[in-house]
Amino acid sequence: MISRLNIPPGLRLCLWHTRSWTKIGLVLALAFLANSLEGPTIQHAFATDKQVTYFQDVALIIHDHCSSCHRPGEVARLPLLTYQDAKQQGPAIAAAVRARLMPPWKPVAGFGEFQSDPRLSDAEIATLESWVREGMPEGDPKAQPPAPRFTSGWQLGSPDLVLTMAQPFEVPANTPDLYECFILPTHLTEDRYVVAIEERPSYRPVVHHSIVVEDKFGAARRMAQGAGAYPCFGGFGFPAPGYIGFWTPGVQPQREPPGVARLLKKDCDVVVQVHFHPARQPAKEQISLGLYFAKQPPEHIPFDLSVGTMDIDIPPGEPEHRVSSFVFVPEDVEVLSIIPHCHLLCRAVKVTAKLPSGGSVPLIYIQDWDFDWQRQYWYNSPLFLPQGTRVDMEMTFDNSAANPRNPNHPPKRVTWGEQSTDEMAEIHLEAIPAHPPSSPHK
Ligand code: HEC
Repeated sequence: MISRLNIPPGLRLCLWHTRSWTKIGLVLALAFLANSLEGPTIQHAFATDKQVTYFQDVALIIHDHCSSCHRPGEVARLPLLTYQDAKQQGPAIAAAVRARLMPPWKPVAGFGEFQSDPRLSDAEIATLESWVREGMPEGDPKAQPPAPRFTSGWQLGSPDLVLTMAQPFEVPANTPDLYECFILPTHLTEDRYVVAIEERPSYRPVVHHSIVVEDKFGAARRMAQGAGAYPCFGGFGFPAPGYIGFWTPGVQPQREPPGVARLLKKDCDVVVQVHFHPARQPAKEQISLGLYFAKQPPEHIPFDLSVGTMDIDIPPGEPEHRVSSFVFVPEDVEVLSIIPHCHLLCRAVKVTAKLPSGGSVPLIYIQDWDFDWQRQYWYNSPLFLPQGTRVDMEMTFDNSAANPRNPNHPPKRVTWGEQSTDEMAEIHLEAIPAHPPSSPHK
């Protein structure tokens, strides 16, 4: 994405290196500089005579697209709530939105339609750019929209079951990122059907993302050897079939559609793998999970329709190694969501469904894969895929020395494995049968 900014190649490499969020300010400062030296931009297409002001034009865009993360206690340190906030950061805001670095969103537009797509329209970007260019006028205070309101506490209402880490985890200051798995026993005495999981970190700035899985067999307890937690860089240390929750900053929890719920077996543990991004100060984190149960057994338990391959063997130095795989859809299904998964060398992910009738359905395309910014993507409406559809996935890996995300210096052969320094290539589609079954699932 940096290359779009027309920055000289040497500098581009150094910027690409700058992948940690804390350094994004530098990227944006340089981006802004580069932009202001470049020729005509998109904004001219939308220029009008009317003066763009904060209260009339800018505030609502920022409240709707930025403030959810840019407010105290949330992931981004810089607040974007008031005129003063926006004015102080004006040039950085213009650069960030023009480069489409902000709001963060990976899938390529037009290749799959997803819920909660936060992207700004070209017109909104032009408005922000004009406002900055015109000196960031405040405008008529009478036109001031109400301050954005955010639900404090559980976003989906009171959970049916709250699981909290037994004790806070100490996140040391100024250390490299770390991964820790926490075991949360459910003590459920009967099977339950889960319609949503909401995660609440206690101190968000240090939580980069986290993944929740179910552990029916006590595997995590064995990994932890009596402790409630264990370090788990890469995987969970045991095969975890499908995620039941995924937390990334700014992503709202989501309920399954009516009649759809996941089975949570009695007596199982829930395991949360947390990627911590330590701060300048030591911090404590104690995550709570809110579980929401279906009132009655669902019509459909979603199943994992996965496409992937373990046949991965990436030669050292290879800048564009392609791995592909496909699966045939075994019955008529509706696809609710998709989770792509690969590791550090991965650069691009593309998934397409080829219908038996000859047409095709785009499922997702990510051109600048970031291991640190993974999530589940819910389709705007369920995608119908008839039996016999072929789901094709292709991933591209860059094992060259020029790839700053390459964990090996010099590059070495990389094959399939659980560690982040190994590779994976898989896609998980959350699917339900397309026709209502005659009786509820047992
Ligand atoms: C999903 C959460 C999220 C959303 C939504 C979001 N941002 Fe950000 N933004 C971040 C994070 C995380 C950073 C890294 C900053 C940090 O470390 O505090 C960041 C950084 C920035 C920076 C660089 C600040 C600096 O430190 O120099 C700017 C400017 C910015 N965002 C503008 C915006 C604008 C404008 C919008 C809306 C159009 C927006 N962001 C929406 C999460 C978000």
